[in-house]
Amino acid sequence: MELTVARSGTINFFDGQAVWDDPVHQQQVRLLPTALRIIAQVSGGNDAEAVVDSLSRDGHHNARDLMSAMLGAGILQPAGDADAQDLMSELASWGPGVAHFHFSGRTTAETVFVDERLLDLELQRRSLDGDLPAYFPDVIGSRIDLAAPVPESWSEQCSALLSLMRARRSRRAYSTTTPFSKEAFSLLLTALHTPTHIARDHLGRPTKVRRVVPSAGGLQAVDIGVVVRSVEGIEAGCYRFDRVAGQLIAVGPNLGQRSWVHALGEQEWVNDASFAVVYFGRTRLIRWKYARTRAYRSLFLEAGHQSYAAYLLAEALGAAHTFIGAVRDETLERLLQLDPRHEFVIGASVFGVREPETDGTSEDLTSFEWERQALHDTRSG
Ligand SMILES: Cc1cc2nc3c(=O)[nH]c(=O)nc-3n(C[C@H](O)[C@H](O)[C@H](O)COP(=O)(O)O)c2cc1C
Repeated sequence: MELTVARSGTINFFDGQAVWDDPVHQQQVRLLPTALRIIAQVSGGNDAEAVVDSLSRDGHHNARDLMSAMLGAGILQPAGDADAQDLMSELASWGPGVAHFHFSGRTTAETVFVDERLLDLELQRRSLDGDLPAYFPDVIGSRIDLAAPVPESWSEQCSALLSLMRARRSRRAYSTTTPFSKEAFSLLLTALHTPTHIARDHLGRPTKVRRVVPSAGGLQAVDIGVVVRSVEGIEAGCYRFDRVAGQLIAVGPNLGQRSWVHALGEQEWVNDASFAVVYFGRTRLIRWKYARTRAYRSLFLEAGHQSYAAYLLAEALGAAHTFIGAVRDETLERLLQLDPRHEFVIGASVFGVREPETDGTSEDLTSFEWERQALHDTRSG
């Protein structure tokens, strides 16, 4: 059989040991010296039998078994079977480091998400151990006191915006009976995502599009898909949003309760949410303008801007909203018909009809005194 070495992995050396590091399948495998020789010979163009013969002659009698284990682990693959390689192809041309960074963080249908209750217990233990990093690092220098802001002394507009910003929070309690209103749903999508301005060159060709959130190079390379569960007048299902026409395009099925929670990182509190806006980056679009690798970062930043605008608008509408990073990228890519080679999921905004929160309390602090207090506590503790 003709074999190739999978292009999805690299060989790294840690503490004198060779390790196969594969970000697509998210696995690291320690390589025995014989495995390294197999990789060298297969990359040299030898077929499987020739490699086994040559290694057996040198006394490596386990070469055949090792080779089939390497096939099973995806280190070797039948020639022509290039799925993972194909998946990485576009990002890899931006630099293999970007492709590795990207795929090692991509969640799949099998990813195990941290159980929040177990994490809480673990964090309690860690804080008892006193290893919480300082809230503010110990910086030496002369200090200037800033007065706590008094929003009321500024314009009405500024004061209204500050109150909205202070009222904003991640809200995870939703009505179990009332569907989300279609008007509020439409406003959230169109106000945040459809263009507001277009700049043209002297020939009238569009050069830059603007909307309410900033965008690297004005490219709007972070796009959205929408998974609807309970919005009045809109059939539950998966949609892409044509932000120019302001229309939803049905692309995927209505998710049952289990699939909905599964796609959104097994977070049970999403059970009664009404819909999720899924942010995805379009690398082809941003690369069209910026060849440099750093442009990749801007997609994450841009999704953050969009999510914050969603927080404010949801707050103003009296709706509930929480941004989540713990989503299943691969599952959402499939549901929204994204092409993972150049369209990748970043996170999602989960919306619902607001209900009062019952879990925990949150103290309303009107000045920034708490920051000083926290700083003082970490220093004196
Ligand atoms: C990048 C990012 C990822 C987040 N992911 C999740 C998530 O997966 N699940 C969740 O319940 N909240 C998530 N949150 C919300 C935070 O938990 C929340 O902002 C934080 O607890 C502070 O609460 P607040 O937003 O009410 O001020 C995320 C927030 C950010 C900025």
